[in-house]
Amino acid sequence: MPGGSVYSGLVTDPDLSGLAEAAELAHTAHRVVVLTGAGMSAESGVPTFREAQTGLWERYSPEQLATEDAWFADPDLVWSWYQWRARLVRSCSPNAGHQAIAAWQRVLGNPGAGSLVISTQNVDDLHERAGADVLAHLHGSLFDYRCADCGTPADHDPGSMGGKESGPAGPSAPAAGSEADLEQLLRLSPPQCTACGTGRLRPGIVWFGEMLPEQALEDTYSALEDCDLAVVVGTSALVQPAASLPYVALGAGAAVVEVNPEVTEFSTAATVHVAGTAASVLPALARSVLG
Ligand code: OAD
Repeated sequence: MPGGSVYSGLVTDPDLSGLAEAAELAHTAHRVVVLTGAGMSAESGVPTFREAQTGLWERYSPEQLATEDAWFADPDLVWSWYQWRARLVRSCSPNAGHQAIAAWQRVLGNPGAGSLVISTQNVDDLHERAGADVLAHLHGSLFDYRCADCGTPADHDPGSMGGKESGPAGPSAPAAGSEADLEQLLRLSPPQCTACGTGRLRPGIVWFGEMLPEQALEDTYSALEDCDLAVVVGTSALVQPAASLPYVALGAGAAVVEVNPEVTEFSTAATVHVAGTAASVLPALARSVLG
């Protein structure tokens, strides 16, 4: 199933022509919503989904891994793949973009300053590890688990192998997130639920065909309806309903800055498109606020 190497970063030649206008919008905004997608974490070493060669859906089949049918067909495969992704994320660190958003959030969190909320499609925890509060994980989290049968939430450490096979440990063990790590994890089975005793744990990810968490979506809509600036970072704007969220901000009269080295479905509607990466553009926007 796997092929190619694990994604290791994005090489771009950024055209930052919209940056001055975006920085001015950031400087004057008091109620900010930041919407993030996979590109937000690309410079941390977390693969995106749809980019040629490096994207996860270019190398692995979403039908085999990210649907309820896939789970019923082969729970071991699905479990192992998400354990691999969780371990890969654990081995990565927040980048300068995550740090900039966290710093910006702290400043707007001062009394009377305003607010900055984050709503992400990402299932990683890099915003949190940069010190930010995340309002909504629209597509769930790699670090949440629940019973596939009774729905009871459960703790599980993806660092521990769990399941039927613990595999080798020590200096000869493959690096977390490497292809060899995935090969080894493919021998895992999802642990049994301790609440009902019969079901198996599944990852708390929103799979294709499943509903988004209602509260997360509602909270995001409310924040967008009341913001004066939305910043959309690193999403191809192809997956609904997340792709329609920037239009809620536009409809409420807010400006929308898109940060993405590539043009997306949303770019022509954006107030400003800054054609640079998260780790290069977001620190500049935050600086315009922090002084
Ligand atoms: P995609 O892989 O579809 O898009 C990633 C976007 O990030 C692309 O538009 C890239 O140009 C951009 N990008 C790449 N590197 C970047 C960087 N350093 N800085 C800024 N932007 C960069 O990822 P998403 O749009 O997030 O769902 O995908 C949406 C959903 O599809 C995911 O949440 C996932 C997937 O199926 C689930 O897992 C439920």
